[in-house]
Amino acid sequence: MSTKTKTQVAIIGAGPAGLMLGHLLHNAGIDTVIVEKKNRQYIEERIRAGVLEQGTVNAMVDSGVGDRLLTEGLENENIDIRFSGTSHRLNFRELAGGRTVWVYAQHEVVKDLVAARLGYDAPTFFEATGVGIHGLQSDSPSISFSGEAGDHVIDCDFVAGCDGFHGISRGMIPEDILRIYDREYPFAWMGVLAEVPPASNEIIYAYHERGFALQSMRGHDLSRLYVQCPVTDTVDDWPDERFWSEYRARIAARDSALQREGPILQKGVTGMRSFVCEPMQYGRLLLAGDSAHIVPPTGAKGLNMAIGDVQIMTRALAAYYRANDGELIEKYSDTCLNRVWQVQRFASMLCYNLHRFPEHNQFEHKMQVAELNNITHSRQMMRSFAENFTGLPVELFYDLA
Ligand code: FAD
Ligand code: PHB
Repeated sequence: MSTKTKTQVAIIGAGPAGLMLGHLLHNAGIDTVIVEKKNRQYIEERIRAGVLEQGTVNAMVDSGVGDRLLTEGLENENIDIRFSGTSHRLNFRELAGGRTVWVYAQHEVVKDLVAARLGYDAPTFFEATGVGIHGLQSDSPSISFSGEAGDHVIDCDFVAGCDGFHGISRGMIPEDILRIYDREYPFAWMGVLAEVPPASNEIIYAYHERGFALQSMRGHDLSRLYVQCPVTDTVDDWPDERFWSEYRARIAARDSALQREGPILQKGVTGMRSFVCEPMQYGRLLLAGDSAHIVPPTGAKGLNMAIGDVQIMTRALAAYYRANDGELIEKYSDTCLNRVWQVQRFASMLCYNLHRFPEHNQFEHKMQVAELNNITHSRQMMRSFAENFTGLPVELFYDLA
């Protein structure tokens, strides 16, 4: 026997997309159930993204979950783009009309959202197994799963597929409707968390003939650092000494302090891909976040795209429940995809210009340096870079859909 319950929106996945959606819908007076296959500790400790666009910060603060972000997060007013041994600093506040980015770890965002959700007692099932989605072409779909207390069926009006790249939701869209746009890159990132202050208090993207390097941070005394590496590498290929010598060689610039070395607390290799599925909705299923799209991490956009999607979804569902108006739901996929493709364009442009590709020759190298000079010297390009890096406001995309 299954326990049968009912909600308005059944959300699959408690990553940033699912949790933020649940929170925004709660504020809009819409009931949700979240079903997550991992346990709470796992999702609260999973190390991933770190850079929050202005729109993501605003969404957290305005919805009442931004207190810790504002006290513990680090606002970055500048970005430093390094190449040919020189630093080029862009000031976001000046170039993007007051907008900036904040560094605040994704798992801290997750912790804040879980705490808020449990605080108002919204139904949340962790460690769910055998999650299934049913009846998407009807007005009353449902999800089913097994939990600690047995089997469950939840009837709902909508299913939100927020279950990440490896989830089940995207697969519910029939093959003859689903279109996939995909690119894999011929390199990966070796990332470390090091117990040492960052050399400067801004994100640094470095293009070097030995490959890309990135400085980010997780606090005044913790550096988050990455170097480009072959896709076949594992952490065993990167003993601490090798990491430090490669990182320091690539990030060095004539006019800047060199990063001090310190104990490495964590290491991991991340593959890089671009991926978009169209459409992002099918019947009563609406996809958000990594279940529908992946960007290469250059640009720091994945988490921010997920938050953009769920803001758009919340507005659509609120109009539906408040005024029985389904127009924004019908336009949901197009509204999101217009933004998704803009972000894909920016992230893949950066990915292309900041990495060494195995197949590139000196011509392509010169083109990359020319493009980086353009981004850092042309006033219009600097402004465009800053607008894209700090995040294109969701509102811009309604008129395009
Ligand atoms: P996820 O975070 O993947 O959450 C999906 C959830 O669904 C998971 O909790 C999963 O357990 C659950 N789930 C899966 N299948 C099921 C199922 N069948 N049933 C129930 N639950 C299920 N983005 C940025 O914006 N800035 C960055 O700086 C950045 N850096 C990154 C660095 C690294 C190393 C990595 C790996 C990613 C980075 N990203 C970054 C990307 C970012 O982490 C993701 O885009 C973000 O996690 C997407 O959130 P999501 O909620 O859509 O998906
Ligand atoms: C991070 O802080 O982990 C980070 C920063 C910038 C990126 C990707 C990741 O582009």
